[in-house]
This record gives sequence, C-alpha cells and structure tokens, in this order.
Amino acid sequence: MNANINDRKPTNDLTFSDLDKELREYAISHDVPIIQDDGLAMLESIIRIKRPKKILEIGCAIGYSAIRMASVLGSIVYTIERNEEMYNQAIENVKKANLSDKIHIIFKDALEAYDLVKDNTFDLIFIDAAKAQYMKFFNLYTPLLSTHGVVVCDNMEFHGLVEVLDNIEEYKSYSRGVRGIIRKMAKFHDELLAKEDFDTTLFEVGDGIAISVKK
Ligand SMILES: C[S@@+](CC[C@H](N)C(=O)[O-])C[C@H]1O[C@@H](n2cnc3c(N)ncnc32)[C@H](O)[C@@H]1O
Repeated sequence: MNANINDRKPTNDLTFSDLDKELREYAISHDVPIIQDDGLAMLESIIRIKRPKKILEIGCAIGYSAIRMASVLGSIVYTIERNEEMYNQAIENVKKANLSDKIHIIFKDALEAYDLVKDNTFDLIFIDAAKAQYMKFFNLYTPLLSTHGVVVCDNMEFHGLVEVLDNIEEYKSYSRGVRGIIRKMAKFHDELLAKEDFDTTLFEVGDGIAISVKK
C-alpha cells in the first residue's frame, strides 16, 4: 500500500504494508473476491495518469480496492456495497487505514443508490460488482462522469468463462445461473465496444479489464 498521501499512517501502529497483507489474507481465507494484483497495478497506474479528484466504486466488499485507490494520490472515493457484513468490515478497515475522511461507504444496492451520489462528478468509475448488472451500472452512473472521465470494469472474462461460449458442450456443462452470467458478460463486451460516446479497450489483465474513456 502506498503511504504517501499526507504521510498518513494507519491506526494501531500498523504499517500500510501490514494492513495490505492483513486484508489480502482475510480475503483469501474468507473467499472474498478482491481485485487481482495485475488488475490493481493497472488501476493504480490509471489513477496516477488521470489524477482523479473523485472516484466512484460499485462493489466495495471489505474496502480493499477503495483503500488502495484512495492511497495513491488521496482521491475522494465513494464506494457502494449491498452486503451488510461486507459493509461493516469495510467501515472498520477504512478506519484502520485512517482514511475515513477520504472514503465514503454507502450501504445500498448500487441500482438504488444513484440519488445518494448524484450531486457529484466523478473522474473515474470502477465497476466491480454483480456481473449480470454491469450494463445497468454503466448506464446509470456514467452521466456523472466528468469530461474525458474513465470507466474501469473488472472481471470482463468472468474467471475465464466468457470464452466458454465458443465451446457449446463445455458451456452446457455449467449451471443455468452461470450460463446466464456468461451470456450477459459477453453481451456487455459487445455493447461496451459499440458505445459511440466512449472509446473502450479490453485488456487481458487480471480477470479481464475494460477501460472506457468518455469522448
Ligand atoms: C468483487 S467484490 C468487490 C471487490 C472490491 N472492489 C475489491 O477489489 O476489493 C464485489 C462486491 O460487490 C457487491 N455487490 C454485488 N452487486 C452489488 C450491487 N448491485 N450493489 C452493491 N454491491 C454489490 C458484493 O456484495 C461484493 O461484496
């Protein structure tokens, strides 16, 4: 974790790297799907290049990526989480990171949280929540994006399963629910690339990252 914003330190004599390690270990041992290392490196590079004043994250989980994003340059992060246990963990972790003044965590389904953030303009939106709803999140929140703002979508490959659509026998071996998500993710790929008001590039980084820049 980057400790350069205001030279601040986490609480309880933790260092940023102790806290980083603690959160990663917690995520692994409790099956919390946090962003992969190379996806995170890319996200942090985008933040260094774009220098966003405000970031909106859809899908906070335990606050790991929100803490990492706020730690790069001190951007203000609004992050939305619908699972109460995750939300409570995120509150505690953000306090531990000493970033409560930088990270606002909203406990709500992101499809119902628009009114709570609509008075803000965001320079970066990071979408990392329910895969079947990506297009809805994108369409709902991108009107709040600043000129030339950037949207980063994680898990575009849905754990490598989007490719399974090319192999009908393998595709059929998955449950109806998983097949539904695979189809919706593939549709989202196509619709995102076709959007005329955004330039989108898909990267084979982490679980697949899409970067869409508002024209
Ligand atoms: C992949 S995890 C987020 C990981 C986090 N961004 C990180 O890298 O540290 C996805 C989270 O999104 C939450 N989520 C899924 N759909 C949501 C929705 N419609 N509204 C709010 N949160 C949602 C889930 O509860 C889960 O905690």
